[in-house]
Amino acid sequence: MKSFLQEVSFGLSKKNKKLSSKWFYDFKGSKLFEQITKLKEYYPARTERKILKDNKIEIANKIGKGAVLIEPGAGDIKKIEIFLSSLDKPKKYIPLDISEDYIIKISQSFKKKFPKVAITPKGYDFSGSDKLPFKINSSENIIIFFPGSTIGNFEKKDAVKFLKMLKMKFKAKKIIIGADLIKDIPTLISAYNDKKGVTAKFNKNILQRMNTELGTNINLNFYQHLAIYNKSKKRIEMRLKAKKNNNIRINGSKYSIKKNEEIHTENSHKYTIKSFRNLANEAGWKVKKTWVDDKKLFSVHFLDLGL
Ligand SMILES: C[S@@+](CC[C@H](N)C(=O)[O-])C[C@H]1O[C@@H](n2cnc3c(N)ncnc32)[C@H](O)[C@@H]1O
Repeated sequence: MKSFLQEVSFGLSKKNKKLSSKWFYDFKGSKLFEQITKLKEYYPARTERKILKDNKIEIANKIGKGAVLIEPGAGDIKKIEIFLSSLDKPKKYIPLDISEDYIIKISQSFKKKFPKVAITPKGYDFSGSDKLPFKINSSENIIIFFPGSTIGNFEKKDAVKFLKMLKMKFKAKKIIIGADLIKDIPTLISAYNDKKGVTAKFNKNILQRMNTELGTNINLNFYQHLAIYNKSKKRIEMRLKAKKNNNIRINGSKYSIKKNEEIHTENSHKYTIKSFRNLANEAGWKVKKTWVDDKKLFSVHFLDLGL
């Protein structure tokens, strides 16, 4: 697994500078994301919650008895709570997140709310090839819960790889997954560029982490948060645009960033029902049910292996 230092050094030495969005998430970044989910502009979180709430009985029936629920990139674990108490004797809930301190902390009160479910949070980077931090019993009813439109952060080929990995490595039988839908561009852009500037702070947290963890001396005010919609790739791209020439020094190396140069920090791909189905099919999954809200802002899908 490449370290933060290795990935930043590699990403900044490219012609088109790029850093992975996974580095937004230390404890502070996770807290900022929690704030984003409460913003009026950020329709995905509240819309997905409503879809899960309105359909929780049907979801519970599809999940079935004795579920072992695994949630990669679980964040504030607010969404599982919506249907967990509707499930038939769920066995285990394993929230996984790259933001380890955060997931451990946030799970503490959750454990008290569901004393009959074995809740074992773990720090885990799902983009790497590390061994799973828990044992898998493939005869169990293993369900992956993947809300938050996190699937949209992957480029298409990596999304297919990830969905295949859920089958091969996690031995998942079923997946419940949220995908954001293509819609009018102003709604999309304002969801990633809120008036209060929380998303800007979240984007700059990657620079903040470089200052605290890699010893750089970046003036955060030298960078502007950008959220643009890339029509051909059907995705929001977040970038950090330099307002002036500046140098970033890391571990004896110097990276020169020119005025107006951009560092690409996140993709958030948007789907149609059809394009999401095609993606799932390419990875060997069958979409058995899709739920959408009245305004067709967001979609939640139930996938199985079609056996
Ligand atoms: C868009 S947020 C979604 C959070 C939550 N699932 C929800 O629906 O609100 C993405 C989450 O995935 C986590 N994450 C991002 N990249 C990750 C990675 N490579 N491995 C594990 N977790 C990751 C982040 O820390 C964050 O909690």
